[in-house]
Formats: sequence, structure tokens, C-alpha cells
Amino acid sequence: MSGPRGAAVVTAAGSGIGRAAAELFAERGYGVVAVDTDPRRLAELSEVDGVVPLLGDVAQERTNRRMVQLAVERFGRLDAAVLNAGIGGAPPLEDDGAIAALDAMHAVNVRGAALGIRVAVPALRAAGGGAIVVTASVAGLRGDPYTWAYNTTKAAAVNLVRSAALDYGYQGIRINAIAPGLTLTARTAAVHEAAERAAELTRRIPLGRWADPREQAEVIWFLASPAASYITGEVLVSDGGLSAGTGIFHPQSLQSS
Ligand SMILES: NC(=O)c1ccc[n+]([C@@H]2O[C@H](COP(=O)([O-])OP(=O)(O)OC[C@H]3O[C@@H](n4cnc5c(N)ncnc54)[C@H](O)[C@@H]3O)[C@@H](O)[C@H]2O)c1
Repeated sequence: MSGPRGAAVVTAAGSGIGRAAAELFAERGYGVVAVDTDPRRLAELSEVDGVVPLLGDVAQERTNRRMVQLAVERFGRLDAAVLNAGIGGAPPLEDDGAIAALDAMHAVNVRGAALGIRVAVPALRAAGGGAIVVTASVAGLRGDPYTWAYNTTKAAAVNLVRSAALDYGYQGIRINAIAPGLTLTARTAAVHEAAERAAELTRRIPLGRWADPREQAEVIWFLASPAASYITGEVLVSDGGLSAGTGIFHPQSLQSS
């Protein structure tokens, strides 16, 4: 029997973009270590052929170490690390708890990604090279009202990727980020279901719709695959055109005039 085509770790694999990525890599013949803090979601994912679930928090060094160890134990190597975990939701900057929320967000969105890179690099090096893809956000490229902490941590993730790409490129390790725009997942479901708010947000997207998580998973797959063999230190925006404009006009606002 032949082994898997490659081996990947995917964090926050229980839902949304991470889930779609774990499923896509598994469908395409990869062995996947799927990490999440939610045992119920992980149990669903463990039904998928080729997926090994790991319960853990990416802010903890031991979770990151274990996920790489598991990939090597179960699949013999590591070819790709998809560091996708990210959380949002801080109160306004002057409110109580704002800085505690920033610290909690930083622990997952920045510390988690840094730990993931730190543990993945030696395993990728041992495999003769490989790829790391960090899920950043368009929020890491610009500011937005009332999401100061999220945008700050995602911007840090973007420059973590750029800097680490410079450090490890010569070892054959490519490190890139995907910057998704509005994507229909568990975390955005409430906004999407609030009809008026969702319509207002959708009007700002030139493609006129939110992304399906699978569309983001395809971008992650591309960045991790040999098709992207000369791309490193890049932030690939996948936002239906949301961040292409200045934001002064809605894409459709001048159409009928
Ligand atoms: N959905 C969007 O519109 C959007 C846009 C831009 C960027 N992103 C980014 O994409 C990534 C995935 O978001 P999503 O919308 O698919 O999320 P989601 O809410 O659908 O799923 C997130 C998963 O992460 C898990 N998780 C949370 N904290 C964790 C931790 N500390 N360790 C391990 N697992 C943890 C949750 O249990 C959940 O299963 C995040 O980094 C997010 O910031 C999402």
C-alpha cells in the first residue's frame, strides 16, 4: 500500500476555513493532523479519511509540538503547515477589558502562528523543504472601525510571515499568508444572518457575495503546493475585490447614474 501524497498540519480545523482546508488536503491525498479546541467539531472531522484529530490550543507550545510530532509519527514527514487559528472580538479601546482582550487575541493570532512556525520549520527542513501558510486577513492590511485589536494582531501576523520567509527561504521553506475577506463561517454567521448589516457589507464586495470557505481552502492549497514554488513572503488577498478600492464609493453606487 502506498502512503499519503504528503503530510500537513492544519490548525483551527474544526470549522470554517480550517475545516475546508483539512478536507481539501485529505481529498487530495494528504495525511492531515487537524488541531482544534472543540472536541465535537474534531470528532466530526475524524470521520474523514486521512485526518488525525488533535485536541489543543495553538497558544500553547505543547499543542504545536504535538501536532508536528503526530504528523511525523503517523505520516513519516511534514510537507505543509496551515496555521489558520484566529479569534476576534475585543471591546472598544477605552472600555474595561480591552487590553485583556488584546492579550488573549495576540496569544492565538500572533503567538500561535509564531509557535507554529517555530515547530514546523525543523520538520520541514528534515523533509528537504516545504511550505507554511498563515491565515491573516484583509483586516491585517488596513484599519477598520471598532476592530482595532483584531486588525493589530492580523497585521502582526502579516509581518511575521514576511520576516520568517526571509529567515527560512534559503532552507527551501516557503512562508506565505492568505488574507481572506468576508467568508461564510461559524464566526461570521451571526453577521451574515443580520439581513440589513449583511447586505451593507455585501454591497462593498465587487464580486457581490461572501466567500465560501472552500474558495479560501483552494488558495491555501495553491500556496502550499509546488504550483507556488517561487512564492514566499507573500500575502495573497482573497476578498472578492473588497480591498481593491479606496472605500470612498460602494462598487455599485455609480452604476445607475
Ligand atoms: N470568516 C471570515 O470572514 C474571515 C475573514 C478573514 C480572516 N479570517 C481568519 O480565518 C481563520 C479561520 O476563521 P473562520 O472564520 O474559518 O473560523 P470559524 O469560527 O469557522 O472556526 C474557527 C475554529 O477555530 C477553533 N479555535 C479557536 N481558537 C482556537 C485555538 N486557540 N486553538 C485551536 N483552535 C481554535 C474553533 O474551535 C473553531 O473550530 C481565522 O484566523 C480568522 O481570523 C476569517
